Amino acid sequence: MKEINMIAAIGANRELGYQNDLIWHFKEDMKFFRKITNGHPIIMGRKTFESLPNLLPNRQHIVLSHQNLEIPEVKVFSSKEEIDFYLKELEEIPFVIGGASLYRMYLLEAKRIYLTEIQATHPADVYFPEILLDRYERNTIYSGDERNTKYEINEYVLKKSLQLEASNKN
Ligand SMILES: NC(=O)c1ccc[n+]([C@@H]2O[C@H](COP(=O)([O-])OP(=O)(O)OC[C@H]3O[C@@H](n4cnc5c(N)ncnc54)[C@H](OP(=O)(O)O)[C@@H]3O)[C@@H](O)[C@H]2O)c1
Repeated sequence: MKEINMIAAIGANRELGYQNDLIWHFKEDMKFFRKITNGHPIIMGRKTFESLPNLLPNRQHIVLSHQNLEIPEVKVFSSKEEIDFYLKELEEIPFVIGGASLYRMYLLEAKRIYLTEIQATHPADVYFPEILLDRYERNTIYSGDERNTKYEINEYVLKKSLQLEASNKN
């Protein structure tokens, strides 16, 4: 594994989810998620996995859990170290897709963070970790609004000088 990416949709206060469910449902965001993760392994915590309505096609699902789960077509690991070892064998760039605990775990290692930043607030019980903006170059991929709510999809690329440091953690 050469790099690891991350993707999330967050509110104005970095709200991610509430009562184990997603809180943001925007068409362009979903479309972007499907497109950019297509064909890539996706890494998630057990709670996020359980919140999926079904397996996402054409993506290998990698789930972190302390439990000894056996789920058809899904790789379950019980520690970050086990996941990282497994990722070394993979060609495709993996995406961490949540939830909060996995974002915290991989934040400093992610080379690209795709953040859909929604200009709205929502009750939440999980939040995306704070990112230090001066670590990244920001590219705006999409800017628009749906149902009177503005949002942007931004790509935060770890600055070159920090990439070696991050890949040493992989
Ligand atoms: N807005 C977004 O883009 C977005 C994306 C994804 C998820 N979400 C939201 O985020 C929320 C879920 O996030 P969350 O942080 O509560 O849960 P999570 O990260 O999805 O899953 C947490 C679970 O992962 C496992 N885990 C975490 N750290 C571990 C470790 N070091 N070793 C072994 N297993 C470990 C544990 O599973 P076990 O309990 O089985 O041991 C833990 O309970 C939901 O509301 C979801 O809708 C939002």
